Amino acid sequence: MTTHTPWWRDAVIYEVYPRSFADSDGDGEGDLEGLRSHLPYLRDLGVDALWLSPFYRSPLADGGYDVADYRDVDPRFGTLADFDRLIAEVHGHGMRLVVDIVPNHTSSAHPWFQEALTGVGRDRYIFRNDTGIPNDWQSNFGGPAWTRLPDGEWYLHLYTPAQPDLNWRNPEIRKEFEDIVRFWLDRGVDGFRIDVAAGLFKDEHLSDIGDLTPHAAGSPMYDRPEVHDVYRDWRLILDSYPGDRMAVGEVWTEAPDDLARYVRPDELHQVFRFDLQKAPWSAAEFRRVVEESLGSATAAAPTWVLSSHDSVRHVTRYSSLDRARAALLFMLALPGSAYLYQGEELGLAEVTDLPDEVRQDPIWFQTHGAQPGRDGCRVPLPWSGTEPPFGFSTGEPWLPQPRSWAAQTAAAQLGDPTSTLKFYRQALALRRTLRGTLPEQPEWLDGFPPEVLAFRRGSLTCVTNFGDVPVSVFTSSSTGTVALASGPLDGDRLPGGAAVWLTGECLLSPRAVRRCVP
Ligand code: NOJ
Repeated sequence: MTTHTPWWRDAVIYEVYPRSFADSDGDGEGDLEGLRSHLPYLRDLGVDALWLSPFYRSPLADGGYDVADYRDVDPRFGTLADFDRLIAEVHGHGMRLVVDIVPNHTSSAHPWFQEALTGVGRDRYIFRNDTGIPNDWQSNFGGPAWTRLPDGEWYLHLYTPAQPDLNWRNPEIRKEFEDIVRFWLDRGVDGFRIDVAAGLFKDEHLSDIGDLTPHAAGSPMYDRPEVHDVYRDWRLILDSYPGDRMAVGEVWTEAPDDLARYVRPDELHQVFRFDLQKAPWSAAEFRRVVEESLGSATAAAPTWVLSSHDSVRHVTRYSSLDRARAALLFMLALPGSAYLYQGEELGLAEVTDLPDEVRQDPIWFQTHGAQPGRDGCRVPLPWSGTEPPFGFSTGEPWLPQPRSWAAQTAAAQLGDPTSTLKFYRQALALRRTLRGTLPEQPEWLDGFPPEVLAFRRGSLTCVTNFGDVPVSVFTSSSTGTVALASGPLDGDRLPGGAAVWLTGECLLSPRAVRRCVP
């Protein structure tokens, strides 16, 4: 009997942050039509699916994670008809589409909250009529998690005051979100990325958090047991549709076992493992992360992430494009699915010098500038041309692009066989040919210097040099079997900050990959 492997199990999923991807109407903000017109680029890149971060009606107080209407497209991003055209074409190109769903909080512009402001339906949110601030919780973005209305009542917001938290103990909320899930499944989406998936329920008594961190075991703010029933219900809905519809949760927990509860067989299909994203550029740390992830109960559906719209781009985190390219080969050689973030295929670095007056991330405002926030990884993509807006728009991009991106546009890189874009295409194409042929569990190849990590999965061997100096890792007779390298090799040596994929049966000896038979 052959077992069915669902598409997402080993997919490469590319995150599109629509506001910064491509603008079709010249208003300086990306939109669904802009994305649609670049679908051939994504198909040729070789990704299996797109994860589209929020495009719903929203004041964009938190980049769209403040939803005012869950069943409509924000006019800045287009229309529902644009969405329907987009999904049809995504499917036409053989890709899938996963959309974000934001159930923990609405926008304060949502009709429910507007009604709550008049005193009606406050039990849809978390209101308290206390004389002082109801508890000691802090917003994730800085400052207290409570705001007081002029009538004296307080409401809870784990993020900005413009994102009031919903009261999931109210059955109306549950029903509404089941309808929203169905609404998008009916339009053909292949899955959901669930925002703040562990947040929906709070401790019933809203007890003080005290010395605990928000995601610690026992925290009153996140990961309450009641949340799992919601995902069991969503799973039944997903399973009632054809075609392996899936859900991936954005779940932060300090204990891996708590994370694993979200991927029990009747709950979500995947949770993000952010461990690689958090790990420094170090052989020991990368190995620890892989061992921990694959040794945990989430190993049934591993996920890997290097960059996203919430983190400093990994070129900057590792302070080198070479290392970032090597990290890609390392990640793509692992079992499970890999999530990419738009622009990493161009080797873009974080934009660290945005002028204060253009910043939009609420983290910047709520920390009074102490933290720069996430705008630096959200700068609109450079497509073509030699100066801003680099083909992103005919207008002025909502965040300014560095002039130095002239050398990194997609068009410039397509003409350069050594470019990062070409390298991503090669890596994704090769991964696709190997898909389904490799054993799950990587086998570590010991005997290399401590700064070198090597592992093998059947006919694929990945060797990464985390050090700064070249290391002899294979003999000259084997260089012909290098299927892909993250950068130029140094004769028989693997330079610092580089990785290689060797395919075929490699004979290994301590300190060297001797010979690979293709
Ligand atoms: C996680 C999202 O990825 C992030 O961008 C957002 O600010 C928070 N959740 C709140 O919705």
